[in-house]
Amino acid sequence: MKKEPSFQYYASSVHTTTQHDLSSFQTDALVVFLSEGDVGRGKASEIDQATNGLLSKLIEQGELSGERYQCTSLFEPAGLTASHLLIVGLGKREHVDAGVLFRAASSASRQLATSPRSIVTFVADAHWTDTQMEQAVAGAMSGMIGQDLYRSKKKQVPFGKMIWISGKKDEVHNGSLLGDGVNLARHLVNLAPDDLYPESFAEHARAAASKTGMEIEVWDEKKLAQEGCRAMLAVGRGSYRPPRLVLMHYNGRNDSSQPDIALVGKGVTFDSGGLSLKTPDGMLHMKCDMAGGATMLSAASTIAAMKLPINLVAAIGLVENMTGSAAYKLGDVITARSGTTVEIHNTDAEGRVVLADVLDVVRSMNTKRIIDAATLTGACVVALGLDVAGLFTNNQSLCDHVIKSAHDMGEPVWQLPMFPEYDSQIKSEVADIKNVGDGRWGGAITAAKFLEQFVGDTPWTHIDIAGPAFAERPRPWIDGGGTGALVRTLISLARSL
Ligand code: BES
Ligand code: ZN
Ligand code: ZN
Repeated sequence: MKKEPSFQYYASSVHTTTQHDLSSFQTDALVVFLSEGDVGRGKASEIDQATNGLLSKLIEQGELSGERYQCTSLFEPAGLTASHLLIVGLGKREHVDAGVLFRAASSASRQLATSPRSIVTFVADAHWTDTQMEQAVAGAMSGMIGQDLYRSKKKQVPFGKMIWISGKKDEVHNGSLLGDGVNLARHLVNLAPDDLYPESFAEHARAAASKTGMEIEVWDEKKLAQEGCRAMLAVGRGSYRPPRLVLMHYNGRNDSSQPDIALVGKGVTFDSGGLSLKTPDGMLHMKCDMAGGATMLSAASTIAAMKLPINLVAAIGLVENMTGSAAYKLGDVITARSGTTVEIHNTDAEGRVVLADVLDVVRSMNTKRIIDAATLTGACVVALGLDVAGLFTNNQSLCDHVIKSAHDMGEPVWQLPMFPEYDSQIKSEVADIKNVGDGRWGGAITAAKFLEQFVGDTPWTHIDIAGPAFAERPRPWIDGGGTGALVRTLISLARSL
C-alpha cells in the first residue's frame, strides 16, 4: 500500500521572545510589516533607525511603498545582524484588520518558505489587537505550507522555528493553533482522492480527536443502515468504498448537556457526478468536495485544542459519488432518515442528499444551533464569485452572528434570501421533494431550501463554500489548492457563543 503524505502540526515550533533589540537579533530572516506611505511610529520605524534610515530612503525613492502584500527583500542590511530583512506591505493604515494581517503574514511566509530556513522572526507591532496578533501568527503558519504534497522536491519548506518579537504569549499560542487548524483543512483537501476516501478521512478524524481528547464515533455502513441513513447510503452505492459518518463530541462545559452547536460538513471525497456524470473539466478538482467536512473537522479540533467552554458536536457525512453498477439512479425515490421522501432528478446534486441525513442526526441530538459547510453548488460560485461564501439561514440572528465572525476574521461572506416562494421549486410529482430546483436559476438557494427541510425548528445557517474552498491558482498569500476558508470564522463564532 502506498503511503499518503502525512499532516504535520507546527504549533510547537512557534515561539515568542523577550529579547526586543531588533538590530542584534540572531535569525535567518526578519519580517517587518509596513503600512502604505511612511514608516510610521511602530516597529518599522525601529528598523528604519537601526539601518540609518534605509526604509525611509527606499520609500522616498519609490522603491518601497507598503502596498498590500508586496514583499521586498533586503540582504545584509547594514545595522542589523539578520542577513535577510523582508518588508511586507499592509496597505493603508486605517484599513488594516485581522484579515489583512493574516494575508500579509502569510505572503511573507510564502516568500521565505521558498528556501529552507531554520529560524524566521516576525516583528509584531505593539498596537495590534489580540485578534490581529493571533491572525498574523495563523497567516504566517499557513503561508509556509504549499500544495506540493506529492512533489519530490518541495517548492515550499516550513521553517524550523518561527519567533514572534513583542508578541503576547497567549495570542501567539492561540494563533499557532489556528494556523494548524487552517493547514489541516488545506492538507485534507489537497490529498489525492485515491488517498482520501470515506474510511481514510475517518482515520484522520480519529487522529485529530485523539490529539485533542475529543470523543469520536464512526458509523460504518451497517450502523448507517440501522440508523436509517438511507440517503447517505444511496449516494455511496456507486462506489466500492463504503460511506462513513464521523461524529465528534467535545464537552468544554464539563457537563454533557445539549450541544451548544453542531458543525455539519459535506464530505464527498470525490464527486464524479454519478450517473449525471460531470464533464472532465467539471470533475478535475472534485477531490475538493469534502472541503466542508475538512473545515468542520479542523474547526472542531482547534476549538478542542483551545479548550473553549462550549459543548460541540461535529458531524461529517463521508461518501464517494461514483457510477458503479449499484449507483443510485435518476427517478429513484429515497426515504431519508427523517422520513421525507426524495425523488432523485440529478445524481450530481448529491451533497444535499448526504446532508439530509447528517442534519437529521444532529437535529435529533437536540443541539441548540446547527451550522453546515458544504461545497454545495456551482450556482453559488456564479452568484458570488470564487472568493465569497454564500450564507443561507432560517434564523437571522444566528446568521448575523456568522456574518460578524466572518467580518472579524476578514473572510468574505454574503447572505442570499430564503423567501418561501422558492419552496415550490423543490416539490416533486411523485415524492415529498426532489433533489434539484425546476430550472438552473437560483440553484444555490433551491439547494439551501432542500437542506432546510431537514433541520426542523433548530436555528441553522448553511455556508456554501463551493467558491472559496479551493483555489485553482495561487494567490500572493497562499498557494493554490485547499484554502482552509471559513475555519477561522467558525472558531471565532465558537469563541463568541
Ligand atoms: N460539488 C458540486 C458543486 C461544486 C461545483 C463544488 C463547483 C465546487 C465547485 C455539487 O455536488 C454539484 O455538482 N452541484 C450541481 C447541482 C446541480 C446538479 C443542481 C451544480 O452545482 O452544478
Ligand atoms: Zn455533485
Ligand atoms: Zn458535490
